[in-house]
Amino acid sequence: GVDVRIAPSILSADFARLGEEVRAIEAAGAALVHFDVMDNHYVPNLTIGPLVCEAIRPHVSIPIDVHLMVEPVDALIPMFAKAGADIITFHPEASRHVDRTLALIREHGCKAGLVLNPATPTHWLDHTLDKLDMVLLMSVNPGFGGQRFIPGTLAKLRDVRERIDVHRATGGQPVWLEVDGGVKTDNIAAIAHAGADTFVAGSAVFGAPDAPEAGGGYHGVMQR
Ligand code: DX5
Ligand code: ZN
Repeated sequence: GVDVRIAPSILSADFARLGEEVRAIEAAGAALVHFDVMDNHYVPNLTIGPLVCEAIRPHVSIPIDVHLMVEPVDALIPMFAKAGADIITFHPEASRHVDRTLALIREHGCKAGLVLNPATPTHWLDHTLDKLDMVLLMSVNPGFGGQRFIPGTLAKLRDVRERIDVHRATGGQPVWLEVDGGVKTDNIAAIAHAGADTFVAGSAVFGAPDAPEAGGGYHGVMQR
């Protein structure tokens, strides 16, 4: 069978009670903590950095999945590795030397991944797949929680699933396929069917008040 992992995004958590929030998602069965880093430059929003990663690290034993929406990328990698990140992903167009950035992440003992925006072509994977632990497909434009899933992501997921399967069949290492943005209880089955094995869910898990159309709560997503 296929492993299915839920990665709640703490972007929609209560930041005044972050320790409790991450403990609750681990107790509810989350596989990863998804940690969204925004810089008001690569994306038009500003969130959290290595200090917050370091602060939540002792509260959970599951891996912290750091999604860097920053430009430039490289200077933050040693800082997040030191702060307890387990997985670090970045957007390839935000790094001048993608292969070097991937190597830097691995040299710091973390798993590495590339993030593809809705309009970013999958050919970024042509010469990188053998150096990736994860591909993260954005199903919304990065920058905010609580947006609607972009339906064209399903076809792109099937394309990337196919690439990863061929890679595996020809002796390649495992590569997780994560999807991020607008994942809800009513579309997660279709997303899984299209090939994703790891699901970021922010507003669907935390039901944040700034995302009024989202619902569910921890258990709605976790029980799928
Ligand atoms: C968006 C972030 C997502 C976001 C997902 O830029 O990368 O991780 O928190 O939130 P939902 O699940 O509400 O779309
Ligand atoms: Zn994210």
